[in-house]
Amino acid sequence: MAKLDINIPDLTLPDGNKIPLIGYGTGTAWFKTDGNSPKDQKLIDAAKLAIKTGYTHLDGAEVYNTEEELGDAIKQSGVSRDKLFVTTKVITNIQDIPGAIDTSLKKLGLDHVDLYLIHAPFFAKGDETALQQKWAQMEEVAASGKAKSIGVSNFLKPHLDAILKTAKVRPAINQIEFHPYLQHGDLVAYHKNKDIKIAAYGPLLPITKASGGPLDPLLASLAKKYAVSPGEILLRWVIDQDIVAVTTSSKEQRLSDYLRVFTFKLTPKEVEEISDAGKDHHFRGFWNHIFDKEDRA
Ligand SMILES: NC(=O)c1ccc[n+]([C@@H]2O[C@H](COP(=O)([O-])OP(=O)(O)OC[C@H]3O[C@@H](n4cnc5c(N)ncnc54)[C@H](OP(=O)(O)O)[C@@H]3O)[C@@H](O)[C@H]2O)c1
Repeated sequence: MAKLDINIPDLTLPDGNKIPLIGYGTGTAWFKTDGNSPKDQKLIDAAKLAIKTGYTHLDGAEVYNTEEELGDAIKQSGVSRDKLFVTTKVITNIQDIPGAIDTSLKKLGLDHVDLYLIHAPFFAKGDETALQQKWAQMEEVAASGKAKSIGVSNFLKPHLDAILKTAKVRPAINQIEFHPYLQHGDLVAYHKNKDIKIAAYGPLLPITKASGGPLDPLLASLAKKYAVSPGEILLRWVIDQDIVAVTTSSKEQRLSDYLRVFTFKLTPKEVEEISDAGKDHHFRGFWNHIFDKEDRA
């Protein structure tokens, strides 16, 4: 399939760096539970295909055990490093963040990542000092140049409040599960207020794992109006709120279709209608062992 002639727009992070508004994920479907298992050639090929299709923002994490595959794909893609935006995250080796970034960079075959995230705050079990100490180590990683930007993932207000009390460098972004069926109350407004950007993972969950909900008819009618798929409407709903969408697919057609989101825009009223319809239903696809079933935080 030919590369679409689409320029993926960026979002400017609070530190001035720019992040492409759509990212290709190497977790979920690609996740390997055993770090010693052989390299997954299918992922190398899929990530190369994503880059060839036009994706420049690539999302990884040490816990996915797929950094080597991502590194191989980057190397084999022939695209120059400065044209790519690479994210990875720390959680398995959270006790030793300086060691963890070195290991991740070695696996990725890179000398720096564009974005380094604390994958989740739950290790701290509510201990503010533990979160603050880990954030200070993230600041050291940024100072060393091994990560251009630093941020967090799955942080809620109390976790962000804790690190902001002592942060010298504020988190540039928080990567959270975000879709119409999980809007987290006023968490988006909080981020705007604190000047922290958001990246949304699981943006397609309302049609992949939670289909049959109240959004279906609205997604279908908007998809018809814009001559796209319901998935593209969901990605656009995220992007129209200045939120980065992180998705993934092994399918060339879908990868290509999802880049069409940059050829149309929802009206503010349509964004609001999707938000309103989504609020009638609750679905969380990840970290369910941490949250109660009805917890919408
Ligand atoms: N920070 C965190 O805690 C965290 C947690 C989860 C994920 N993530 C990141 O976010 C990335 C994306 O996560 P996600 O999997 O939740 O993304 P998603 O965008 O919600 O879903 C992507 C999945 O849905 C399938 N899919 C795509 N379009 C579809 C359609 N129209 N109908 C049916 N299935 C469809 C894809 O499979 P096909 O291959 O069949 O297209 C793929 O497995 C991950 O790879 C990871 O990098 C981060």
